[in-house]
Amino acid sequence: MSIKSLIRTIPDYPKKGIMFRDITTLFEDADGLRDVIDSFAAEFQDKKIDMIAGIEARGFVIGPAVALALGVGFVTIRKKGKLPAETIGVEYELEYGSDVIEIHKDAIKPGSRVLVMDDLIATGGTALAAIELIEKVGAEVAACAFIIDLPDLGGAKKIRDRGVEEFHLVEFE
Ligand code: PRP
Ligand code: ADE
Repeated sequence: MSIKSLIRTIPDYPKKGIMFRDITTLFEDADGLRDVIDSFAAEFQDKKIDMIAGIEARGFVIGPAVALALGVGFVTIRKKGKLPAETIGVEYELEYGSDVIEIHKDAIKPGSRVLVMDDLIATGGTALAAIELIEKVGAEVAACAFIIDLPDLGGAKKIRDRGVEEFHLVEFE
């Protein structure tokens, strides 16, 4: 089965009107999971990535697997209050609400080329906040990569308009 057909859609979750694209069904499928990781590894193996930053929570599923494939380290970008050492935070708007993400100040060597990973880009608020965090610690965002883009919500375009490479595997209207 294709990556797209392994993603389940739950209408009206977590709020009425949201078509929630559920990647748990994709991760449960051994061939689907391997396809996802292999596709990202193939795309980024020659792009001089020094580190992968995964966004909580679903970026933590794909990020480390791709980091292993590329032979680089993995850093967590977490929701507010979860990281124990000194952090930098950025507030951002979601498709449904607002939140703060944080990174450890000393997590990334300045000048590193970082690949930011998450399961999905919608409005782009989360990914743009992640880019800001990476730049605040003195590193460079080499690209942002997602399994799913929701193009109608404009997030991927915002990433590209900011001059950052954007890559995704599938799109949903
Ligand atoms: C989802 C998704 C992305 C973000 C995309 O996470 O995993 O991180 O929303 O939306 P945006 O492009 O409009 O910012 P969510 O905030 O639901 O958090 P979770 O992964 O912790 O459930
Ligand atoms: N995060 C933001 N919008 C989403 C959606 N429609 N499906 C899954 N995750 C999301």
